[in-house]
Amino acid sequence: MNASKRKFTVLAAALMAASCLTVPAGAQAPAKVKVGLMLPYTGTYSALGTAIENGFRLYVQEQGGKLAGREIEYFKVDDESDPAKGSDNANKLVKRDQVDVLVGTVHSGVAMAMAKVAKDNKTLLIIPNAGADDVTGPLCAPNIFRSSFSNWQPAYAMGLVAATQLKHKTAVTLSWKYAAGDESTNGFKEGFESKGGKVVKQLNLPFPNVEFQALLTEIAALKPDAVYVFFAGGGAVKFVKDYAAAGLKDKIPLYGAGFLTDGTLEAQGAAADGLLTTLHYADGLTLPKDKAFRADYAKTYKLQPDVYAVQGYDAAQLLAAGLKAAGGDISKRDAVVKGMEQAKIDSPRGPFTMSKAHNPIQDIYLRKVENKTNQLVSVAVKALADPARGCRM
Ligand code: PHB
Repeated sequence: MNASKRKFTVLAAALMAASCLTVPAGAQAPAKVKVGLMLPYTGTYSALGTAIENGFRLYVQEQGGKLAGREIEYFKVDDESDPAKGSDNANKLVKRDQVDVLVGTVHSGVAMAMAKVAKDNKTLLIIPNAGADDVTGPLCAPNIFRSSFSNWQPAYAMGLVAATQLKHKTAVTLSWKYAAGDESTNGFKEGFESKGGKVVKQLNLPFPNVEFQALLTEIAALKPDAVYVFFAGGGAVKFVKDYAAAGLKDKIPLYGAGFLTDGTLEAQGAAADGLLTTLHYADGLTLPKDKAFRADYAKTYKLQPDVYAVQGYDAAQLLAAGLKAAGGDISKRDAVVKGMEQAKIDSPRGPFTMSKAHNPIQDIYLRKVENKTNQLVSVAVKALADPARGCRM
């Protein structure tokens, strides 16, 4: 044997010994957990989808790339926030890629299509944004969880604040005509009218249209005490600017679920100054967990996180809790579900637990836009649980 051949043989033997150390003979490496990210990467909600993915990956990265000892393998689909393509897109991940868990999405209509696919195939689903009341209502199921909010939650809180603290008597609501817009404006109406306010008109336009002029003219003519809107992403940027440009900002106070001003303030500029909104996240929280999360997010992505990043991060935390309870074996579904149901999530928003319908029970904050941040004003409603109407589980 010449020298180079001997060197090769020694190297090969060393490599074999090393591989025996990590994987005992006859044993398989633990299977990776296949995560199917179904999110909008194009359209008015594209920035939201990216922030959710960033947040999810950040938590996994903080755990050394593994959850409960399992490596994570990602599969991705751009859902375009298009409900008509929702079930085909979800089926790509479930049937073609055979993912263990679906994580998605932003748009309520798409999320409802995902929930149906998840139910039919008994696939685990974690919703990291879409507030569709139905998925933790009539469509609730043991395999469906949400790490974000229900559309009702921040909206109802804003209705209470508008009537009791801000003493408004009449309001007009405005949103895109789809589940999230309808449920958000109805949640506001429920809270506002329970304290003696009156919603005099509910206006809307098709998703994701941004031709607001005729509606702004109508609001000016109606002269309500207040306006409540649900808009998010690119549409929210345009609406806040148009409201100010129409000269309404100083005449009729504008409120919203906090999506109106989350992740949008750089683009909205001065048009957003002073706006009050309600949400399950805020700038200026003094929680150590939030401080650490923000520092890590900023370091990793060279960006400031927003509510969507938090929800993605917490979707990964929720999955980790389920996997941990099942000893890392995602096929032990009952144990995974139990672990997720009993999880106490140490979220940057503040700790939260899951309701019986699998939706976060969480504080809703009142925030005010100052210096391009959504500064915490107060806790609008403590530990608010969605009523989960129609959920039988
Ligand atoms: C929704 O469709 O449920 C939705 C979309 C964007 C948001 C919040 C809710 O920011």
